[in-house]
Amino acid sequence: MLKGKKIVLGITGGIAAYKSAELTRALIKEGAQVKVIMTKSAAEFITPLTLQTLSQNLVYTDMFVPTEKYDMAHIALADFADAFVIAPATGNIIGKIASGIADDLLSTTIMAGTKPTLICLAMNDKMLANPIVQENIKRLKKYGYIVMESGVGELACKTQGAGRLPEVSEIVEEIESLLTPKDFAGQKFLITAGPTQEPMDPVRFITNLSSGKMGYALAKAAQRRGACVTLISGPTNLVAPPVEKLIPVRTARQMHKAVMENYKKAAIIIKAAAVADYRPKEFSKDKLKKAGKTLSLNLEKNPDIIEEIGKNKGSRIVVGFAMETQNLLANARKKLSKKKMDLIVANDLRQEGAGFQADTNIITIIDRKGKTESLGKMTKIEAADEILNHIKSLIKKKGGGRS
Ligand code: C5P
Repeated sequence: MLKGKKIVLGITGGIAAYKSAELTRALIKEGAQVKVIMTKSAAEFITPLTLQTLSQNLVYTDMFVPTEKYDMAHIALADFADAFVIAPATGNIIGKIASGIADDLLSTTIMAGTKPTLICLAMNDKMLANPIVQENIKRLKKYGYIVMESGVGELACKTQGAGRLPEVSEIVEEIESLLTPKDFAGQKFLITAGPTQEPMDPVRFITNLSSGKMGYALAKAAQRRGACVTLISGPTNLVAPPVEKLIPVRTARQMHKAVMENYKKAAIIIKAAAVADYRPKEFSKDKLKKAGKTLSLNLEKNPDIIEEIGKNKGSRIVVGFAMETQNLLANARKKLSKKKMDLIVANDLRQEGAGFQADTNIITIIDRKGKTESLGKMTKIEAADEILNHIKSLIKKKGGGRS
């Protein structure tokens, strides 16, 4: 969430300028206040009126025409911003910033700015490859500007190559990360997410409704807060957040193996995966044929991964989940104690807005002393931050945490 965050968005004159409208919308949707500065050539690609309507603010285009009560727009905008974003950033603007040229409102505001600045490159692939442009990018990085490398794909000039503006969702994620305090800097997390699939033949398997959204939100939030995250994920339809290491698995036994191979390096282990408790005892290499009226399936138990971790956790913090349809808190407390977790996050599948698939969750966090905090309905990313805040308190109490 970017609630209340003030973003100054600089738009320069590249064909990708039209995507800045979508970016402005996305930032407003996340709760940010957006003020837009457009260069003269940007206004040739997209009209200031479009950006004014979307940002719900006046659009600044000219250095010498006061657009609001301020008579020094560049200073006022520099003071207003929590962060600057230039998207798209052409070779021209990065050349100007890298050389200390301030000859229009955008370049002057950036020169006067002291806040984090994100530069989202977009240009023709040959321009991007130009050694002077590459030198300028290095120079910007050296002075602390955050440069988002451009994506590879089809360019407006019909060629394929580097130079595409990064996706709007990636830019928004980068801005969120930029504005998030790094209170888990360097802490190593192991997070599991998603369902497991337990095959009985090449086309059929036992699984559950887990979407992976809660685990992915935790991975995203932890990584944003500076942690190094290893994410072990069952099959999901989600785009993985930008974690340190992603290990895709299918079955509970594969997840067990991946966790055992990786948990020792982690100081904090969060098991958000919905691991299947049982798997078909036999696996048929060939597709099972339809036969009698009924079919019995023999199941055998999967390893309880978190229980095994709990026994060998040392000073690590272990967090588990309990998803219940009855006696939520009593069952969660039992699991917390049996599996030697430090925290358990309980949610009731029957509550609307909680559980699998949804983008929201309603969670109760319980610690080993029995302290219980019930939180209202919130997005999974907000719930993830709440869980991380509890983990932070635990680390403080333990006097550090290992990494
Ligand atoms: O007992 P239950 O499966 O409800 O416990 C849920 C917690 O245990 C979750 O944190 C889940 O990731 C973990 N778990 C596990 N291995 C299993 C089953 C559950 O780690 N085989």
